[in-house]
Amino acid sequence: MQSKERPIVKGLDHPLAKFSLNKQDWWTVRDAVRGVQIFGGIGSGKSSGSGKTFAKAYLKNGYGGLVMCAKPDERENWEQLAKETGREDDLIIFREDSPYQFNPLDYELNRGGKGAGEIFNLTYLFMEIYKMGNRFTGSGGGGESERYWDNALKRNMNRMIQLLKLAEEEVSIKNMIKLLSYAPLEHEVDKLAEMSEEEIIKWGEENYCIGCIIEAGNKCEGTDKEEEYDLIKDYFLREFARLPDKTRPTIVESFLGLAEPFTSGILKKHFSGSTNLYPETSFEGKIIVLDFPVKEYLASGVYAQGIYKLLWQQAAERRNPKEELLPVFLWVDEAQLFLSDYDQIFQTTARSSRACTVFISQNISNYYAAIGGRDPRPKVDSLLGNLGTKVFHANNDAVTNEWAAKTIGNAFKNVRSINVGKEENTSAGISQQLLYLVEPREFTMLKSGGLENGLKVEGIVTVAGKTWSNNLNFYRAFFDQSI
Ligand SMILES: Nc1ncnc2c1ncn2[C@@H]1O[C@H](COP(=O)(O)OP(=O)(O)OP(=O)(O)O)[C@@H](O)[C@H]1O
Ligand SMILES: [Mg+2]
Repeated sequence: MQSKERPIVKGLDHPLAKFSLNKQDWWTVRDAVRGVQIFGGIGSGKSSGSGKTFAKAYLKNGYGGLVMCAKPDERENWEQLAKETGREDDLIIFREDSPYQFNPLDYELNRGGKGAGEIFNLTYLFMEIYKMGNRFTGSGGGGESERYWDNALKRNMNRMIQLLKLAEEEVSIKNMIKLLSYAPLEHEVDKLAEMSEEEIIKWGEENYCIGCIIEAGNKCEGTDKEEEYDLIKDYFLREFARLPDKTRPTIVESFLGLAEPFTSGILKKHFSGSTNLYPETSFEGKIIVLDFPVKEYLASGVYAQGIYKLLWQQAAERRNPKEELLPVFLWVDEAQLFLSDYDQIFQTTARSSRACTVFISQNISNYYAAIGGRDPRPKVDSLLGNLGTKVFHANNDAVTNEWAAKTIGNAFKNVRSINVGKEENTSAGISQQLLYLVEPREFTMLKSGGLENGLKVEGIVTVAGKTWSNNLNFYRAFFDQSI
């Protein structure tokens, strides 16, 4: 891709936002690559306040990035931001009727780098799609029985991909659906022993699954893949064929549930053909906007963007950390819609791959609900723990405010007390009490911009390990909406 002059890559100490003139209050590239989480109620100034400040800093410094779209106006926001920062030429809008295509399976099979085409990675991709779908519809949640079905589905997908690869058939969702619908039943395999070779070959011509098994057998004969082949043959002709009554339909239904959206609409049109928009494009300074807003495209929008995000994250991790890397950013507003288990893994290496994640959400309860299960807190806490910068805007959500107060922490504070006793027994004094540095209710009173607040959005910013010029671990910042 022909692009204009490569921007000069600035060091980790380069400031991206200055909250005051004091150097201690500068927010640097080092902070950005450790990730950002912005919380704030509806209309608290997340997008027009802190969000815009960070986004413009990334754009001004020539970073490429990936933008997820929850709301339909996200694309317009980025078009405006790109215009204001002279980055219009670097904007790539991946949307319906655009010429862009991304086929996740094809990409994963044929990309460069370690682990390309590994069955495990492909199955992982499918499982993530499956979980994303479950999260979106609100089903599933990590219980014991859930895990049993997850494993059964995973095994089934592994075997299907293995069979297609050994038979040298295209690994595609279409072919997996075909395999599953033709997979023989118990009474059919029982007849196999009495069938002649010709009859079996004839069966293979009519039955895609049997056809693949025969073809794979021919291809593997006398090679080191015979053992793998036996395993797969066994799976389809014994294990899967003989699964108890309810088990098989449940596996089939689960797979079809995740596969069917790919057989129509945007997923068929833009995510099943041949790839021409690679995640790596953003590493050269392009900003890819996934304009499939969830509010319009619903589950398809979640799948499309979730898959792109996952493979983009893995591509970012493959960047060689030794090079002078131009940072890239991952922009996820309404992040609860796009959470995946991989986010946390990604965050642990994001620093060395110079990936600046920004997650925006109204409240932490959104994350708990999205992760689901009996106790989502450890997972959510661990993800948030790996996002170094937290910005808290005005919020009425008690859980978030309590969490924010806890995150910032306690300190002994002088508390004035007056004990009113009878007659002369009234006394006044000062006692030390362990209190929150910022009390939960203070988050309900932060200014949320607009003309009445002089276009200033107030946010409490905390960066793990940082002491600000006020000698505290948080800073009360004002973000200008008019800039
Ligand atoms: N440029 C601007 N000038 C004046 N007011 C603005 C401007 N941009 C936003 N506002 C107002 O400031 C407030 C904060 O808006 P903003 O869209 O940033 O909130 P948000 O936290 O992103 O909300 P949501 O959760 O709905 O995405 C709103 O009342 C909005 O109408
Ligand atoms: Mg917003």
